[in-house]
Amino acid sequence: MSKPLVYVTRPIPEAGLKLIHETCDVRMWEGDLPVPRDTLLEEIKEVDGLYSLLTEKIDKEVMAAGRNLKVISNMAVGYDNVDVPAATQHKIPVGNTPGVLTETSADFAFALLMSAARRLSEAEHYVKAGKWQTWSPTLLLGHDIHQATLGIIGLGRIGQAVAQRARGFSMRILYHGGSDEAAARHLGAEKVSLEQLLGESDFISVHTPLNEATRGFISTEEFKLMKSNAILINTARGPVVDPDALFDALSSQKIFAAALDVTDPEPIPADHPLVSLDNCLIVPHLASASFATRNKMAEMAAQNLLAGLRGEHLPNCVNPEVYENDS
Ligand code: GLV
Repeated sequence: MSKPLVYVTRPIPEAGLKLIHETCDVRMWEGDLPVPRDTLLEEIKEVDGLYSLLTEKIDKEVMAAGRNLKVISNMAVGYDNVDVPAATQHKIPVGNTPGVLTETSADFAFALLMSAARRLSEAEHYVKAGKWQTWSPTLLLGHDIHQATLGIIGLGRIGQAVAQRARGFSMRILYHGGSDEAAARHLGAEKVSLEQLLGESDFISVHTPLNEATRGFISTEEFKLMKSNAILINTARGPVVDPDALFDALSSQKIFAAALDVTDPEPIPADHPLVSLDNCLIVPHLASASFATRNKMAEMAAQNLLAGLRGEHLPNCVNPEVYENDS
């Protein structure tokens, strides 16, 4: 019997690739940059399974071209790059990788929070530029983290893990969005309106998925409500924050700083106005980027792919409605 054919859109950690190779014929885009759209549309024609990354737009056109496509496995917890309703219409299950990256991503969000508060990136540039001449009582002053107020927008898995870390710093924790009230109580997090969160938080950390309701969620009006010492951390998705409004808020010192793991556009060009700001720390979408976690994500996405090819329910499926008529 011939093996199923799968397309992998970029070299992935060996742990995942090895699993796929055991039972599938594999075609893979070997480039460092995302697979060109034309190539994807060509490759998808023959394959039974697609292993994609958040950098690929997997839309109606891709699904229509994928005549044999039985499963889409996205190696990410977020899946805003996949048109899930279209996949459901085509009866294609879509897999993602929740859970395994929660703690690693929360570590990173907290690292960004601390770096922005204490101006680590500016300080490092200062030293490397040869500007360090003496200790100074007023050099590169930042804001305290301990006992400050943290506002979490989206108290889901990662938001909760960030709150857990904040407890270690005796922070007051507010949240808006997220339905697990028992978890919130356990973390000592107080549910508040968005207005209260924006008005009272020293740190605002975004952990909401990107969808039509959250696109541009933090914009001019929201920045107006923030404190002048506020620091915004975004490790969710770039378009949740309006980049022009963020630039205005940072350049006019309406807020103190931002730390972004995700941007809009992404990648952000080096000549983008936000990149020129000292009070905007930007890193290239790294929250889950630890060796161990990327291996786990690669394996988990492989398990989803293989289950879909065997006609089994995906262990982590974002559109379980595709199974509704299964007996
Ligand atoms: C990363 O952003 C992910 O969604 O896994």
